[in-house]
Amino acid sequence: MFLKNYCIAGIALLISSLSIAQNKTVVSSPSKNIQLEFWLDGQGTPMYDLMYKNRSVILPSSMGFELKQTITNEPLPALKDGLVITASSVTGADDEWTPVWGDVKSIRDHYNEYDVTLSQKGDKAISFKIIFKVFDDGVGFRYEFPEQQNLNHFIVAAERTQFHLTGDHKAFWIPGDYDSNEFSPNVTNLSEVNADDASLAASIFAHQFFDKDAVQTPLMLKSKDGLYINIHEAALVNYPAMNLHIDKSNFNLSSVLVPDALGNMAYLQAPAKTPWRTILVSDKATDILASHTILNLNDPSVIKDPSWIHPTKYVGIWWEMHIGKSTWDYAGNQNATNFDPSVLKPSGKHGATTANVKKYIDFASKHGFGGVLVEGWNVGWEDWFGQYKENVFDFVTPYPDFDVKELHRYAASKNVKLIMHHETSASVTNYERQMDTAYRFMKANGYDAVKTGYVGHIIPRGEHHDGQWMVNHYVRVAQKTASYKIMLDAHEPVRPTGLSRTYPNWLACEAARGMEFNAWSTGNKPRHETIFPFTRFMGGAMDYTPGIFQLDLSYWDKNKKETIHTTLAKQLALYVTICSPLQMAADLPESYEKRLDAFQFIKDVAVDWDDSKYLEAEPGEYITIARKAKKTNNWFIGAITNENKRSTDVALDFLDNNKKYTATIYADAPDADYQKNPEAYVISKQVVDNKSILHLTLAPGGGCAISVVPVK
Ligand code: NOJ
Ligand code: CA
Repeated sequence: MFLKNYCIAGIALLISSLSIAQNKTVVSSPSKNIQLEFWLDGQGTPMYDLMYKNRSVILPSSMGFELKQTITNEPLPALKDGLVITASSVTGADDEWTPVWGDVKSIRDHYNEYDVTLSQKGDKAISFKIIFKVFDDGVGFRYEFPEQQNLNHFIVAAERTQFHLTGDHKAFWIPGDYDSNEFSPNVTNLSEVNADDASLAASIFAHQFFDKDAVQTPLMLKSKDGLYINIHEAALVNYPAMNLHIDKSNFNLSSVLVPDALGNMAYLQAPAKTPWRTILVSDKATDILASHTILNLNDPSVIKDPSWIHPTKYVGIWWEMHIGKSTWDYAGNQNATNFDPSVLKPSGKHGATTANVKKYIDFASKHGFGGVLVEGWNVGWEDWFGQYKENVFDFVTPYPDFDVKELHRYAASKNVKLIMHHETSASVTNYERQMDTAYRFMKANGYDAVKTGYVGHIIPRGEHHDGQWMVNHYVRVAQKTASYKIMLDAHEPVRPTGLSRTYPNWLACEAARGMEFNAWSTGNKPRHETIFPFTRFMGGAMDYTPGIFQLDLSYWDKNKKETIHTTLAKQLALYVTICSPLQMAADLPESYEKRLDAFQFIKDVAVDWDDSKYLEAEPGEYITIARKAKKTNNWFIGAITNENKRSTDVALDFLDNNKKYTATIYADAPDADYQKNPEAYVISKQVVDNKSILHLTLAPGGGCAISVVPVK
């Protein structure tokens, strides 16, 4: 088995991973693929660089901080230069842990670690530590501020971490907005990044505080010589999210933290630590998808008995509002200032009625779905949107046509769980006041999962979705829901950083441009879902809400000219290429009832896995993944492409030896095309074994989904 938490004394393997040359400390990864160098330059500035298989990934880059006193706002001496090393140590670990859910059943955590303590000189000297963990697929480093005489509580005015890249890499990026991640990912060279490009526009809340040369992480990069590089962060707690400012003259990227309402970045109390800054690198794109380094850098689960946490597929009263068939609000009046049933009469279009919810419960129960999400059940939707009002929702008062008790009884009788919806409208002070009441109400009425939402300008006013105050809020919600044994799906939060390891009840986040944009904007591009696994999903699962079968939206509304920019077979493949313990079958029951043969794949596909094989991938172009469903011998394969047609051969050599399987192939029809004929699919079956090779043809904007089940 693996060595556990070894320390330098007496372990030859580790000593060989460390060397000191020209005052540089060199730390290698266990396989020696990756080498990190750390040193202080002539000014006493902390510096690092990074090599992968003897190729430069990060050129010499500086590290450090500017700090201020909390009360007086006076600057403290900057932690950027004039530093000396006062202590250092090398350790490492080779552990294995079992995630509560995820893409594999067990994860190896194998790294060499270098800890260095740096100090200023003189009486007022402040010291801090940098911890580097060097894995075979990348590096994580964080700063720590130990408890000390000259540093108690303090303000981070700026973090000065650089990532000096070797050239004008191809970048998969979204703007460094402070409030929204709901942008179409762009693909340009770093020198061409223009975060102010209006065509990327996210929501009406984006683009308020802006640096046109700044992008969000996870930032995916490809160098001209074929290295795949990913920069992100892990364990974002009590600190703002990090954006990256690009110096286009030399491709040096520097950290820019999301400020608070006063323009400060973070308030810390020693002992304190920052999130990990992560750099993943490989010459194979699939290694980036297979990486568990970000999870490994997060703390183990705080939930001792996770038996109540159950990955689930769900349906819900949701898409019908987004396509305009029904409404969230009761009276079809979104400009009323409050809900007064003597004034506001039912419009007949309200989605969350008892009768409609029962239809969805029946459908879920008949087809084996665990959950039914209901949005628009509580009063407040008349004036929620863009109002910047403090008290919009109370999370316990249903509309008159939504019978909480009866639906509790009915769902339980059909073995289905209702999923609660808490749209906070970003009035977070209001939500914080009501969380306990809201969660008690949920438990009393049989709900064990909540979808939260943060559409709008944050209250407290001036705070940002991605700032320290909100980062702490999202974590508080994860903790508090856990204390009530409630699972969590957060929409419009900060992008995830692997915290689902620590809080496995935090099943998924949105934090990106999901399926909803296909309903009411010009839609997501065909390449969209080939980029996300390299960007947004690096930090954790997404509630993307795939499974739209009625791809021609003029069916619902003749004024809609756009179709969704995928084929139907690609919608199926997304259940495999998107790894999430929470997956919606997002379309309406009637869309599925018309195509039950294709719907069978959504019914069969798993949401929790024993193993995943990342077979081939190129960001922005294609991805093919095979996953083995938890505690079964069933495999599911998903292949997707961008706007280009594609052929590929998938070798099934991961199947058990000497075993026969039935492969059911849900493919694009020969004439399928995301623009002209998106709903054309063909389903075929064949017996396969581990010598078989499946030849797949994907339409423009297409995909292929395959279930592979042992022959009985
Ligand atoms: C945005 C969320 O992403 C979406 O899923 C939800 O339906 C609306 N807000 C309303 O809360
Ligand atoms: Ca959203």
